[in-house]
Amino acid sequence: MTKKNVLLIKSSINGDFSKSNQLSNAIVEKIKNTYQECLIETIDLSENPLPFLTAEMYRAFSTPKSERSPAQSAVILPSENAIQQIKKADILVLAVPLYNFGIPASLKAWLDQIARANETFSYATGAPQGLLTNKKVYLAISSGGVYSEGMMKAYDFTENYLRIILGFMGMTDVETFRLEGIFVPNMGEHAVNKALEAVETFSF
Ligand SMILES: Cc1cc2nc3c(=O)[nH]c(=O)nc-3n(C[C@H](O)[C@H](O)[C@H](O)COP(=O)(O)O)c2cc1C
Repeated sequence: MTKKNVLLIKSSINGDFSKSNQLSNAIVEKIKNTYQECLIETIDLSENPLPFLTAEMYRAFSTPKSERSPAQSAVILPSENAIQQIKKADILVLAVPLYNFGIPASLKAWLDQIARANETFSYATGAPQGLLTNKKVYLAISSGGVYSEGMMKAYDFTENYLRIILGFMGMTDVETFRLEGIFVPNMGEHAVNKALEAVETFSF
C-alpha cells in the first residue's frame, strides 16, 4: 500500500447531473479504498477551461526557457501549471462525456496545452518518445449511444483518440469504463447501474 497522487479531470457541462462525473467519482472512490493514502486533485475544465492554443503560445513553447520574454512566460503559465499537475500524478482519471462524436472542446484545449515537445514528448532520438511515463489512466466515458460494440463502433473516435494522444505522451496503461446507451430504449434505465457495477467488480 503506497501513497498515490490522483488527478481527476472533469469536462462535462452538466455538473452534478453529469454521468461521466458520476462514473469518474465511483472510480476515484475505489482508488481511495485501494490505496492507504491518496491525494486527490480535481480539475473541472467546464468551470475552469484552459485557453485555446494561439500562435503566441506556440512560439513561446518553442523558445528556450532562458530566452523567453516575460510576456511569453506569462502566456504559457496555464500550460506550465497543467504540465506540473500531470507530472505529479500517479493516476489520472478522465471523465469524458461524448459530445458530437468527440471529446468536449475544453478537454481538447487541455490536451493542446499539455502536449509539448521536450516537456511531455520528445523527438530527440529520432523516434517519438513519451515523457509522461509510469502513470495509470482510467477513462470514464459516457454517451447517449453505444460505441463499444455494434453498429456505432466504427464511430468510436473518443477512446481511440485518447489512447493515441495519451500514449504519445507516454501514458500507455489505460483502462476504460463506459456509461453508454443512456438514450437507447430498454438500455438507458440500466446504463448507470451497469457502469457502476463494472467499476465495483474491477480490481484496482
Ligand atoms: C452537446 C451534446 C452533444 C452530444 N453528442 C452526442 C453524440 O454525438 N453521441 C452520443 O451518443 N451522445 C451524445 N450526447 C449525449 C451525451 O453523450 C450523454 O448525455 C452523456 O451522458 C454526456 O455526459 P455527461 O452526462 O457527463 O455530460 C450529447 C450530449 C450533448 C449535451
